Amino acid sequence: PKSTALPTRESNGHGNPRDFVEKMKAGKKRLAIFYGSQTGTAEEYAIRIAKEAKSKFGLASLVCDPEEYDFENLDQIPEDCAAIFVMATYGEGEPTDNAVQLMQNLSDESFEFSNGQHRLDSLKYVVFGLGNRTYEHYNLIARQVDEHLGKMGATRIGVRGEGDDDKSMEEDYLEWKDGMWEEFARVMGVEEGQGSDTADFAVAELGDTLPVEKVYHGELSARALTKSKGIHDAKNPYAAPIALSRELFQITEDRNCVHVELNIEGSGLTYQHGDHVGVWPSNADVEVERLLCALGLHDKRDVVIGIESLDPALAKVPFPVPTTYGTVLRHYLDISAMAGRQILGAMAKYAPTPEAEAYLRNLNTSKEDYHAVVADGCLKLGELLQLAAGNDIKAVPTASNTTTWAIPFDIIVSSLPRLQPRYYSISSSPKLHPGTIHVTCVVLKYESTSSRVPVRHVYGVGSNYLLNLKFAANGENAPLISETTGEPSAVSAPTYAIEGPRGAHRDGTTYKVPIHVRRSTFRLPTNPKSPIIMIGPGTGVAPFRGFVQERVALARRTIEKSGEEALNEWGRLSLFYGCRRSDEDFLYKEEWADYTKELKGKFQLHAAFSREPPYKPDGGKIYVQDLVWEDRANIADAILNGKGYIYICGDAKNMSKSVEDTLARILGEAKGGSAQVEGAAELKLLKERSRLMLDVWS
Ligand code: 2AM
Repeated sequence: PKSTALPTRESNGHGNPRDFVEKMKAGKKRLAIFYGSQTGTAEEYAIRIAKEAKSKFGLASLVCDPEEYDFENLDQIPEDCAAIFVMATYGEGEPTDNAVQLMQNLSDESFEFSNGQHRLDSLKYVVFGLGNRTYEHYNLIARQVDEHLGKMGATRIGVRGEGDDDKSMEEDYLEWKDGMWEEFARVMGVEEGQGSDTADFAVAELGDTLPVEKVYHGELSARALTKSKGIHDAKNPYAAPIALSRELFQITEDRNCVHVELNIEGSGLTYQHGDHVGVWPSNADVEVERLLCALGLHDKRDVVIGIESLDPALAKVPFPVPTTYGTVLRHYLDISAMAGRQILGAMAKYAPTPEAEAYLRNLNTSKEDYHAVVADGCLKLGELLQLAAGNDIKAVPTASNTTTWAIPFDIIVSSLPRLQPRYYSISSSPKLHPGTIHVTCVVLKYESTSSRVPVRHVYGVGSNYLLNLKFAANGENAPLISETTGEPSAVSAPTYAIEGPRGAHRDGTTYKVPIHVRRSTFRLPTNPKSPIIMIGPGTGVAPFRGFVQERVALARRTIEKSGEEALNEWGRLSLFYGCRRSDEDFLYKEEWADYTKELKGKFQLHAAFSREPPYKPDGGKIYVQDLVWEDRANIADAILNGKGYIYICGDAKNMSKSVEDTLARILGEAKGGSAQVEGAAELKLLKERSRLMLDVWS
């Protein structure tokens, strides 16, 4: 269901707000740029394309959320104009929520444009897709847009761009765009150099004129500040109090997994088993300090600023204002991401020394050096500025050990992406836990690999934020204490300030996490008679804890109504789980036996411990796919004779592929054929019928 806040079709005195052609004409825009975006990345690329059209050719664009417009007049875009589609492919080859209608219109052969036909002969268009190669349907949506438009007679400008979010999105974009712009100039009859590199935003320091309740300190929407009621969604996350938080791993080494229960009572938020929760993190203290110092804002963190967009159609201020410099860097901009190659050119101009400037310019132009230094070194913008100026990036950043760059704040705002929510598969069922959402999150930490940069730990923003909130929730900014030994933990992790005048993240001693729920189709069938096969090693087990709880709730109701025998007809629920060792990282170890008991033996856990005996005869590790293979007779029977369902969750790169291969072998052999032919065909069929579902990530 779509939000009711959509603009309506009625005229409001300014024409039809859903008519983008009218808006283009009224605003003298020659480009309409549509973005199919789920988490904001495609929208960012759409805005970048708009900015480049302006700075290269002086062409103005209308950047459009396709959900807010109608498409009947796609054929009415004037001859000297073009449409640009920046389309993400989501999940298993699906369009993003905001592009569903657009895709339906384009693929519907009875859809009439205002010319009364399904033709777009005079339309010129550009396509750039955002996809992920670890998924099966790589960039399917962009390819479909291209195909539909081509079929309807429209002319593509340049080649279709395709970016791979798994590896090389930024490089794919950079490589594609220059050729596209060349073609664009030729087809559109425009020349480079006509444009201007104007600023996007005007930043003004507002002094002490505003009362504190009018200034945003980490709130994510206007409604959060005014505390007015309204639905909570991605545009208005809910600050959920932490009901409980604990560590799941029973070891003190540098490896953590946190279990957080978020209280949603009274929020109006609801969820289903298998849904995802979007968690809005903040940046770690050290990164906020580093950038404040590098920008010379160390003593100005609390200065209240207003930010205005100089061209609202092109670039909206991506977070609520007025706010403070410190808040922008802590809560609103993604200062923890790797510094993008393209932004380094804009930064170089403001270097403190010619050497620092040359350093950045080189990384901006040399793809090889950028890769070896910034990508392999996992350098954030703040670190890169320090490194370019010869500062020690391993020291605690202070105003005295960090060189100041005179980069205007509006350049920072327009160069860095907005801090986005991190999504986790919910690990509870609302039937057992109606008032809480459970998150199971492994804490991400790894070492940078570049030999040209000091080796450091790199910390995942979302998971370390949750880890830190855990420690805070269990005691006022408590030091990291090991749950097993009660001693200060060996874990090194960054800290996150959870204070603030109103505390977007704190209410008295209660810590809060801004969240919203994203619906998923990863769900159990309603009929409990269907056998269920769940495969989820590591944190891939998260949604399956919710699945099993869902069935436990149903079992309790069924037994109450019809007695225990009613469960005899139920299908078997098999969970294939894998971890390193039974005494180390076995998630929810104490819970599974209880579920088996409550489900009267209908639930079975098959656990593979990869780093403890038994090993394979050749010494190899035993993984979930090996246990799946061992259980092949039951699995083939459940699928081929029992109308069973299979679910896979976890690592998309290796695990889910190996599991699918194993399933193809099992089903192929059971059908008296091969994995490649009969097995693959069976898997395809199961996917089409939503009896094989994946919730995988890379
Ligand atoms: P390993 O780390 O010992 O190799 C959760 O991460 C579990 O998944 C671990 O036991 C891990 O084993 C295992 N794992 C790693 N790679 C895998 C793969 N390709 N397929 C299945 N399980 C895998």
